[in-house]
Amino acid sequence: MAGLRGVSASSSRPPILQILSAPRLLLILALLVAATGYPDGAGGKALSSLNLRSFLEQKTAITSSSNSSSSNSLSHRSRQRKGAIILEIIHRDHCSGQETATWYDKAEKTLISDDARVRSMQSRMKSLIYRKKDEVTLPQIPLTSGIKFQTLNYIVSVALGGRKMSLIVDTGSDLTWVQCQPCRVCYNQQDPMFNPSFSPSYRSISCNSSTCQSLLFEAGNSGTCSGMAPQTCSYTVSYGDGSYTRGELGLDTLSLRTVSVSSFIFGCGRNNKGLFGGASGLMGLGRSSVSLISQASAMFGGVFSYCLPSAEATSTGSLVFGGDSSVYKNSTPFSYADIIPNLQLPTFYFLNLTGVSVGTVALESPSFGKAGILIDSGTVISRLQPSIYRALKVEFLRQFSGFPSAPGFSILDTCFNLSSYQEVDIPDIKMHFGGNAQLVVDVMGVFYFAKSDASQVCLAVASLTYEDDIGIIGNYQQKNQRIIYDTKGNKLGMAKETCNFI
Ligand SMILES: *[C@@H]1O[C@H](CO)[C@@H](O)[C@H](O)[C@H]1NC(C)=O
Ligand SMILES: *[C@@H]1O[C@H](CO)[C@@H](O)[C@H](O)[C@H]1NC(C)=O
Ligand SMILES: *[C@@H]1O[C@H](CO)[C@@H](O)[C@H](O)[C@H]1NC(C)=O
Ligand SMILES: *[C@@H]1O[C@H](CO)[C@@H](O)[C@H](O)[C@H]1NC(C)=O
Repeated sequence: MAGLRGVSASSSRPPILQILSAPRLLLILALLVAATGYPDGAGGKALSSLNLRSFLEQKTAITSSSNSSSSNSLSHRSRQRKGAIILEIIHRDHCSGQETATWYDKAEKTLISDDARVRSMQSRMKSLIYRKKDEVTLPQIPLTSGIKFQTLNYIVSVALGGRKMSLIVDTGSDLTWVQCQPCRVCYNQQDPMFNPSFSPSYRSISCNSSTCQSLLFEAGNSGTCSGMAPQTCSYTVSYGDGSYTRGELGLDTLSLRTVSVSSFIFGCGRNNKGLFGGASGLMGLGRSSVSLISQASAMFGGVFSYCLPSAEATSTGSLVFGGDSSVYKNSTPFSYADIIPNLQLPTFYFLNLTGVSVGTVALESPSFGKAGILIDSGTVISRLQPSIYRALKVEFLRQFSGFPSAPGFSILDTCFNLSSYQEVDIPDIKMHFGGNAQLVVDVMGVFYFAKSDASQVCLAVASLTYEDDIGIIGNYQQKNQRIIYDTKGNKLGMAKETCNFI
């Protein structure tokens, strides 16, 4: 039976599995995707093949690339095309320098961290949803970033007050902040730290100003003006897991290549705790008025998009401000999902998940079309309601059958030992959304590799604990897609794109 498995509506297709005979291949780091899919009798693609490539080959590529770029490992490219600004986006593994941890340890740490992030998000979101109407406590920023956990993996470069800053891209939060000198508690960062006194265009925001008062909710401002003189507008963003940034809000010119946003409101962080992987701070791309995309809406019409690359040494992606479609390199047409309002959690991007399919089989769950699922660049592994996840697992195992199973890995419980295969055929996973849109998960986003020899390869989707938890589309399943956020039209566009800055 090895090498063959039942796949719906594909009976006439020859088997594509190749069983490796002699020396077992050391696989993967960043497997490359070979052929895209195979047409089946029912029309439409149901399968994609994943070519598991030599681990050693990839390792060599990574070593040489980190060597050659070590002097300025967070440097990024950017370009402009018509009204759009295109920033290179890279995965943090790409620039983390020393590779001391083993593959397995890193893979496990990432999932433990991701789990902690999602648990903390769930509890904060639930407390916002279920809090009593007359409760007077001010909500803190309703967002938990994976800061402490190194799960916010994607970084871009901008200039603030004329200085280069490398920022973690987070669609799950709003306030942009950087570490600021003089700093009370700061982590190590790669670029020089922002110093407001060296920037002639920097202005602080006074505590009693209307600007400061209006940011109570959005920027985590305490609302009290006691304390040190001059009375600046203080902020705190706590992430529920012990990590935080604190400081004061200020204004300076933010430059995205050639486009400048003057009087950009950001957090000047004097006390920052968490692992930020050498970045200068964080770029908030959420929905509130303090988010970068809202503050720059006059320039870009409230539209941005990204293509998140895989963690391979050679892949880069792009973060694009503005809606000029000529910069996209999508290989399939865009489909647009409605961004649905969520009154309790207005700063997140919610979509109406109306279905999931595996191959050509549509799953069934009472939770489809109910709660909404949020799309987040900071969560790694997608989380689905238990009933949806169970259906996905059953159908995936049915179609991807005949492979030896492997033990579960952290939050992932559907694992295989693929160490004796060079190439496998994987049923396509599609998410369907209100507005008749669909996200076809790239073949690179289906499996998570616990072991670099592919002896423990797991379906990269996890179950939530409760049916009323909030589903999340994580960045692992967003890889190699152009995802367009139209924050004014309340639409989210999706299409396949092989990410590449060039
Ligand atoms: C890479 O590292 C080696 C040894 O550490 C060094 O000799 C070489 O110049 C480096 N190459 C680049 C392009 O930096
Ligand atoms: C804020 O306080 C400063 C000094 O304490 C005062 O000069 C200024 O007029 C106040 N601004 C507002 C908007 O109340
Ligand atoms: C989500 O989709 C379902 C099924 O199409 C529909 O009944 C429901 O009204 C939609 N919810 C929202 C908020 O659009
Ligand atoms: C995975 O499969 C290979 C080949 O079938 C076998 O030699 C190896 O022991 C298995 N590894 C694990 C961890 O089960």
